[in-house]
Amino acid sequence: SDGTVEIPVVVNVLYRTSSENISASRIAEQIAVLNADYGGTNTDASSIPTAFQGVKAGDVKVRFRLANTVRKSTTKTSWSTNDAMKRSSSGGIDATSPANYLNIWVVGNMGQILGYATFPESSGLWNDGVVIAASYFGKTGASAPFNKGRTATHEVGHYLNLRHIWGDANCGNDLVSDTPTQTGPNYGTPSYPLYNTCGGVQRSVMFMNYMDYVDDAAMFMFSAGQKTRMQSVVASSGARSGL
Ligand code: ARG
Ligand code: ZN
Ligand code: CA
Repeated sequence: SDGTVEIPVVVNVLYRTSSENISASRIAEQIAVLNADYGGTNTDASSIPTAFQGVKAGDVKVRFRLANTVRKSTTKTSWSTNDAMKRSSSGGIDATSPANYLNIWVVGNMGQILGYATFPESSGLWNDGVVIAASYFGKTGASAPFNKGRTATHEVGHYLNLRHIWGDANCGNDLVSDTPTQTGPNYGTPSYPLYNTCGGVQRSVMFMNYMDYVDDAAMFMFSAGQKTRMQSVVASSGARSGL
């Protein structure tokens, strides 16, 4: 084998309205976005600046396969990051074997929150997985400017041990050496170059990285260092070797 790990995915859909009950084709569309982004075959990879070509991940060698879809209707009008969607006892859907499947919960309104994820230290626990608000899942019918399926790309990055590229602090540390240090998150659709000064050094930040906060259309790469971090999680000695 070439070391590619195929992660089986269970999509748990909690819906109140028919638009929250996302279609099977929209789920397939989201899986396809994940496979393109983690395979480095996303067409917008051609927009990676020359200065970052040498540190792009290309193929992360992680792929995704839809194993099952579980649907449940609910009367809940909003959800939060308290994990209620992950247990039937609190109106949610219990995870399917979380050590062996990536569970994604798709829920209605979460206010300003597009999604959230657990890090590998939660591997196999009842709450392990990714949550995405229905409006930001998949592409067709999703809400601009977060309608290219990249919320899932970002959240699965966390699930595979990636930190935000700014290290959640002013010139913080994302534990990846080939992503330039940056002063904070970026939003919208910045243009390259975008200079930040950290530690007295000025250079353009990698705002087009999936682990920044830019719009879906403005993010299109992982770095080689991020690939190494994700690979060690799914390796036979890694925290997510059961996938
Ligand atoms: N704010 C969320 C998080 O920190 C997701 C951001 C996703 N960004 C996007 N362009 N879809 O996990
Ligand atoms: Zn994040
Ligand atoms: Ca870095």
